[in-house]
Amino acid sequence: MTDFSSVKDKVAIVTGAADGLGKAISLCYAENGMKVVVSDIQAEKGMKIVDEIRSKGGEASFYRADVSKEEDMTGLVDFAVKTYGRLDGLVNNAGIAAESRPTHEYSTAEFDRLLSIDLKGVFMGMKFAVEAILKSKSSGGFILNIASLAGVLGNSSMAIYSSAKHGVVGLTKSAALDYARYNITVNAICPGTFRTSVWGQAPEEVMKEYAKIFSPNGRLGDPGEVGYLALFLASDLARYISGTAITIDAGSSAGKITPTIWSHPEIVD
Ligand SMILES: NC(=O)c1ccc[n+]([C@@H]2O[C@H](COP(=O)([O-])OP(=O)(O)OC[C@H]3O[C@@H](n4cnc5c(N)ncnc54)[C@H](O)[C@@H]3O)[C@@H](O)[C@H]2O)c1
Repeated sequence: MTDFSSVKDKVAIVTGAADGLGKAISLCYAENGMKVVVSDIQAEKGMKIVDEIRSKGGEASFYRADVSKEEDMTGLVDFAVKTYGRLDGLVNNAGIAAESRPTHEYSTAEFDRLLSIDLKGVFMGMKFAVEAILKSKSSGGFILNIASLAGVLGNSSMAIYSSAKHGVVGLTKSAALDYARYNITVNAICPGTFRTSVWGQAPEEVMKEYAKIFSPNGRLGDPGEVGYLALFLASDLARYISGTAITIDAGSSAGKITPTIWSHPEIVD
């Protein structure tokens, strides 16, 4: 039987936790006994996640922080330590997408804004959290950076997002080497296509079309599936895993998909 009890009472911060993948990770952590600092720029939605966790008997608190602001990030880490007396982990999840456009059509202001959230935010989160994890003498410290498939593959019409996410993978690998001797694991999760508010209010038929294009198994990912991967990586079952960029994408980054030219009607329809 798989035992996730090693995560019980670990204290973790999750950024961008009011919605989507961050919300799913926070709920999964709290259900398994972790103490979660839910952080986001959307205070009302974030507080609702905290209420949901507490109503199920879990422990969580909200702290409003914009990951692109240094004073917010120091405040966030201080809040976690003051509230729970220690810090064991950080999930750098907050991120924004950019409009799809060819590279030369992005302005430098758009580049600066996206990188200040998707890359500098991750750097600052690690910078301040690592110090707190070290001071907490955590025996199971962990950093999880939510990158993207766009962090391991080039993507047409997504140059600035892709460059930020490649940067996140670079930060992850380098920091993993810095902190291995202090027993802090540093990993990146690279999601494929998950149904979150990042896709706006796209109708169901449009999402089905996205699934056909982006996912070899024909469906979009469920945010809870990222939650379970994040839980495993926060647990002591994963202490030997560090410096990796783990894809969770139904295989879409494994290679090129060619049109189906075979069938076995005697086995599958
Ligand atoms: N959903 C996908 O298909 C997908 C795929 C690959 C990677 N990702 C990555 O996963 C992460 C989560 O994305 P999601 O799909 O859950 O998006 P989402 O839009 O549903 O949630 C993102 C959350 O981040 C918060 N946020 C935005 N800017 C912030 C800031 N400056 N400071 C703090 N919080 C901020 C938002 O308020 C929101 O609650 C992002 O880093 C994204 O790039 C998502």
